[in-house]
Amino acid sequence: MKNLINSEDLNLNEIEKLFLLADKMNKKQKKYDESLKGFVIATLFYEPSTRTRLSFESAIQKLGAGLISTENAKESGSAKKGESLEDTIRIIQGYADMIILRHFDNDSSEIALKVASVPIINAGSGNGEHPPQGLLDLYTIRQYKKEIDNTTIAIIGDLKNSRTVHSLIKLLCLYKNITIYGLSIKGLELPQKYVEYINNHNSKFIICKSFSEIPSSVNFIYQTRIQIERIENKNLSIEDIILNKERFSRFSQNTFIMHPLPRLNEISTDLDDDKRSIYFQQAHNGIPTKMALIYSIIKDFYKNKKHF
Ligand code: CP
Repeated sequence: MKNLINSEDLNLNEIEKLFLLADKMNKKQKKYDESLKGFVIATLFYEPSTRTRLSFESAIQKLGAGLISTENAKESGSAKKGESLEDTIRIIQGYADMIILRHFDNDSSEIALKVASVPIINAGSGNGEHPPQGLLDLYTIRQYKKEIDNTTIAIIGDLKNSRTVHSLIKLLCLYKNITIYGLSIKGLELPQKYVEYINNHNSKFIICKSFSEIPSSVNFIYQTRIQIERIENKNLSIEDIILNKERFSRFSQNTFIMHPLPRLNEISTDLDDDKRSIYFQQAHNGIPTKMALIYSIIKDFYKNKKHF
């Protein structure tokens, strides 16, 4: 694997190898400390981020690579002066051995890839994809359920704009016997192309009109926030899709709550102490999965060129 642009770039074999490596990274094996010494990696973010940028930057430093970073490239970079994304990539690839890009355009990573001479990781593109989040979500599912085959998951909230949902769906569809329940509010339903993707990959998508239609035995509830920054109607009522203690009480002791975060009020904070609320652990899984991802891509891309 030399880049990660879309979740479809990954196959089962690559994911399994990445997760085994992430397990080793999680055990803090000394072998990987300083393993990327001499490389420099750039994080180029045109949209706000806490988890993705800082977990990438932590992973980069844990691997011993150097870091150059622009956290608000839209305002503080030369995009503000009218520089194209292509030119920015052409410049940064002279300073860094890998570029991790978050951008407001859905096709930004494909555009970057066309001109790039260094690996590109898509760390979130518009309302399209967010493959590193999809990977850490899948790693979390594997951590709590052991096998990913035969998973049932309810995805809830802004299914139209949640790029993390779109990436996770594509990754889940690589596995056997996946059932996805969808609960959203009017206008923010899962786009038809993802419904067709699920149906075309031997998985099931079942639309639910309320929480009560989600089976109480579902393995995971994956809640998302309404992406106010991407929608015109800022006054949507989300009352019917808020997960609170009362609504969660009928679910199994083996139903886990996930959320890519940040959350607003779609998961009430009184659920935070429930051992089935795994969203903070999920966010922390960003470190081993990103360490494994960066290491694997750099190793593959530079195998004949640098110290591998
Ligand atoms: N989950 C996620 O992408 O969070 P950030 O926007 O904070 O990176």
